[in-house]
Amino acid sequence: LPKATAARLASVVQHEWGEGLIRSWNDAGWIGLARGVADRLGSLVGAPAGTVAVGDSTSVNLFKVLSVAADLQRRDGHRGSVILSERSNFPTDLYIAESVAQHSGLTLRLVDHHELPAALDGDVAVVLWTHVHYRSGRMLPMAAINRAAHAQGTLVVWDLAHSAGAVPVTLCGAADPVDDADFAVGCGYKYLNGGPGAPAFAWAHPRHLDRITREDIRQPLSGWLGHAAPFAFEPTYRPAEGIERFTCGTPSILALTALDCGIQTLLEATPLGGMAAIRRKSETLTQLLMDLVAARCGGWGLQRITPAEAKDRGSQASWAHPHGYEVMQALIERGVIGDFRAGLGRASGDDALGILRLGCAPLYLRHTDIWDAVETLREVLDTGLWRDPRYGRRSAVT
Ligand SMILES: Cc1ncc(COP(=O)(O)O)c(C=O)c1O
Repeated sequence: LPKATAARLASVVQHEWGEGLIRSWNDAGWIGLARGVADRLGSLVGAPAGTVAVGDSTSVNLFKVLSVAADLQRRDGHRGSVILSERSNFPTDLYIAESVAQHSGLTLRLVDHHELPAALDGDVAVVLWTHVHYRSGRMLPMAAINRAAHAQGTLVVWDLAHSAGAVPVTLCGAADPVDDADFAVGCGYKYLNGGPGAPAFAWAHPRHLDRITREDIRQPLSGWLGHAAPFAFEPTYRPAEGIERFTCGTPSILALTALDCGIQTLLEATPLGGMAAIRRKSETLTQLLMDLVAARCGGWGLQRITPAEAKDRGSQASWAHPHGYEVMQALIERGVIGDFRAGLGRASGDDALGILRLGCAPLYLRHTDIWDAVETLREVLDTGLWRDPRYGRRSAVT
């Protein structure tokens, strides 16, 4: 929770809402808030102003951008009939991809990450990949995958849920435009610190936005705030230009305010080196965590699944463990708050067992916090504290 958030939300509630009432849509700038937040967010992921839309959830935004990507390919006569994604991708991405495939007459094909780039054959119309994997923390080379996909005329959609605010991302502006991404989505409630259920975002490359406007291409959820003139109350839909048409309904001003506080906190690091400096700290925190666990917690069956090299990982470290849930509950009770993700039930490999996941959020964690966390983990494992039956009771959210 950024220090500024509670006071700013209280002021918005008390003054802008409590006193201004609906006047605040104009007087307090509520109607323009989403645009401002979107542009500030864009600057953290290498997206030019006017190319990001903020609102809805990641799932909803994914439905919008994947549908548009599929539509662009159909219009171009791309011969591919496949949406390609990773078998162990975050489930909502797979569910939404399945839904888009059904609606657009495509097939969803799932492969493992090491099958890239070979799996990018001419049948693939659109690739949907998560930049930093939610379980392993593995980070993929975005520009290289964009290039390999573009060589086949394939469009690439990235999920930046575990990247935005944690690692530098350059969606757009590479020296060679084939290295640029096509579309992206992400959430506001992880490293952007926008709070529980914070608005998500959608991004489209300017070359697609120009074309979308020129050819009147629409995302499937036409809502009134994506209309060219919402307050004309026209009976038929006439989409706004560019990314604005990815907006659907009324934004939550309270949620946008909280997200803005999170983003502004990250932007305050700009004079200190911005995302590059934040990333440097994220790397040393994560390295320290992995080194200390290896040195202090050996012999208890922890199996690191996060890549060893900083260039191949995001800002988290994860370990598979046969009793990962119980160990994490014991850690949480002692103030080390990570999470557990269930195993995928496959016969072997990284995905078979449940994992303990610890995020190294660089803005507010110190290296000394990492030392303390590892000592707590060592104590929980050495003493078998996790065997207490109360740690085995599953909560709704793990
Ligand atoms: C990679 C990834 N995509 C999407 C989501 C969730 O999407 P939504 O904002 O729709 O809940 C998560 C949530 O943790 C995630 O890790």
